[in-house]
Amino acid sequence: MLTLNLKINNREVGPYRVPSDLMMIQFLHEYVNLTGTKFGCGIGVCHACVIVEKDESKNSYQTYRSCITGVSQFKDKSIYTVEGHARVNESSGLLELHPVQQVFIEEFAFQCGWCTPGFVNQSIVFYEQCRQHPIAPSQVESAIEATLNNHLCRCTGYIRYFSALKKLILSTPGLTIT
Ligand code: FES
Ligand code: FES
Repeated sequence: MLTLNLKINNREVGPYRVPSDLMMIQFLHEYVNLTGTKFGCGIGVCHACVIVEKDESKNSYQTYRSCITGVSQFKDKSIYTVEGHARVNESSGLLELHPVQQVFIEEFAFQCGWCTPGFVNQSIVFYEQCRQHPIAPSQVESAIEATLNNHLCRCTGYIRYFSALKKLILSTPGLTIT
C-alpha cells in the first residue's frame, strides 16, 4: 500500500491509501470518480487513456498512458484529465471549453467519442508546446501527424482530428512563426 496526495485538475486530493500496484486509470475511476478517461486496450497500445502531467516548476507537460502507469508515478504531481480543461469565463460566468475541445466539436472530429479524451489531452499538450515554442506553418501538418500518430480510433475518424487541430494551430496567433 502507499499513501497518495496529488493535484488533479487544479484541485488537491488525498491522502488516499491505495495498493502500490494500482494503475492510474483505476485510481481515477474508482477512487476519485473521474470516468472521462477511457479504457480501451488496457495494454498501452490505443492511447485512449492518455492523461497529462504538468510540471508546474517548469511549466512543461507530458502525457502518460494511465492503463499501464501506476499511481506511484503521480505522487505529489499535478495532472489533468479530460474533465479539467474547461474554464469559467470570468466576465460571462459561462463554462468555456479549451480551444482544442471547441475545434474538435466544430469540425465533427469524433464519432462515438471513446478515443476522444486521449486525442484531446495529447492535442492540448501539442497546443501548449506550440505556444511555448512556435513552429513554422509548413511544419504543422507533419508535427501533428507525429504527435497523434499513436492514437487509435476504432471509428477511423483520424482525418477530422488532424485537420481540426491543424486549423486551430494555424489560426491561433502566437502558435506559429510568422
Ligand atoms: S487503454 Fe491505455 S493505451 Fe489503450
Ligand atoms: S470516435 Fe469512436 S473510437 Fe474514435
